[in-house]
Amino acid sequence: MVVQLVAPRVMLMGGGAVARLAEVLAQLGLSKPLVVTDPFMVSSGLLDRALAPLRAAGITAAIFSDTVPDPTDTVIEAGVKVLRGGDFDCLIGFGGGSPMDTAKAMTILAAAEPGTHIRAFKVPAAANRAALPVICVPTTAGTGSEATRFTVITDTERDEKMLIAGLGALPLAAVVDHELTFGLPPRITADTGIDSLTHALEAFVSKRANPVADDYARSAMRLIAPNLRRVWADPGDAVAREAMMRGATLAGLAFSNSSVALVHGMSRPVGAHFHVPHGMSNAMLLPAVTAFGLEAGRARYAEAARVMGVASESEGDQAACAKLVEALRAWNRDLAVPTPSGFGIAAADWERVLPTMAQQALASGSPANNPRVPDAEQIVALYREVFAG
Ligand SMILES: [Fe+2]
Repeated sequence: MVVQLVAPRVMLMGGGAVARLAEVLAQLGLSKPLVVTDPFMVSSGLLDRALAPLRAAGITAAIFSDTVPDPTDTVIEAGVKVLRGGDFDCLIGFGGGSPMDTAKAMTILAAAEPGTHIRAFKVPAAANRAALPVICVPTTAGTGSEATRFTVITDTERDEKMLIAGLGALPLAAVVDHELTFGLPPRITADTGIDSLTHALEAFVSKRANPVADDYARSAMRLIAPNLRRVWADPGDAVAREAMMRGATLAGLAFSNSSVALVHGMSRPVGAHFHVPHGMSNAMLLPAVTAFGLEAGRARYAEAARVMGVASESEGDQAACAKLVEALRAWNRDLAVPTPSGFGIAAADWERVLPTMAQQALASGSPANNPRVPDAEQIVALYREVFAG
């Protein structure tokens, strides 16, 4: 078996790593960054943690801070205008998944003919070209976007979260510093943490799993599972925050080199239509979608349960699988993850878009990687099952 592995050229990981951002740029011969971030990073002062070391190195960074949660095609176009209007040699995506994904999409679109829409790059197209290299600095643990060849952008005309994949979306470097996550509120901590656990689990059970991605996935699950409740209960728990951050990046490497599967396939439409935060919509779906695939992927799910520490080594596959679903439900309960209904979505609104959501889920290609591949009807049934819990 030949495995193609893709990863950033440089990854700096550990507490205080962001203070060395200028060194990373210097190593790569870069000195004219456009920082892509969101208004909260500016107003909260967190962005200064990245700007201060750049200033100290004599680098003046331009800032594009208009990114939005669930980045849209229109924000990407505005960003490309800024990119084309200045003299830059790299982009720095600073923040959660949205600023990082915005920077990635900007560099992909800027490499295309003017007038091209970002939807030209959605899967199955290959987004391999980039205008400028991207350096990612995540402030959540997390989407893992700092380590992946993916970006997810909302098509505002079609209410669709598009998966865009290719080497153009792979950062040149990542600076991964868990000290940037200490101030995250519990809700975002939980949602992003479950997102990264979902990445690792989906990469591990995926039909596209391979031994290299498996090792990343196992390491990620081992780091994330025992620390989800710890960071929820105590945002300042440095040991748990560090484990979660490393786990999130390793989970990114896992799914970037394997794939995500049905949970993400079904989750993107929920985000697009109802603006449920990405990690939360994953969490809403995770127990039911896992139960749906158990029989087909039993050995893998059982091993995942053991690696996460929710089943013992001596337990058989069947028992370990049951423990996994139980553990996923318990995390949702303890981390106060709502159902779609509890989130405030009206039953009639949910029901009305189910066929569209099922179509969009299938079109993304992710469900085809699931151990058990559903048809549209089965996806609709799963959406109905999770609606009120
Ligand atoms: Fe995700």
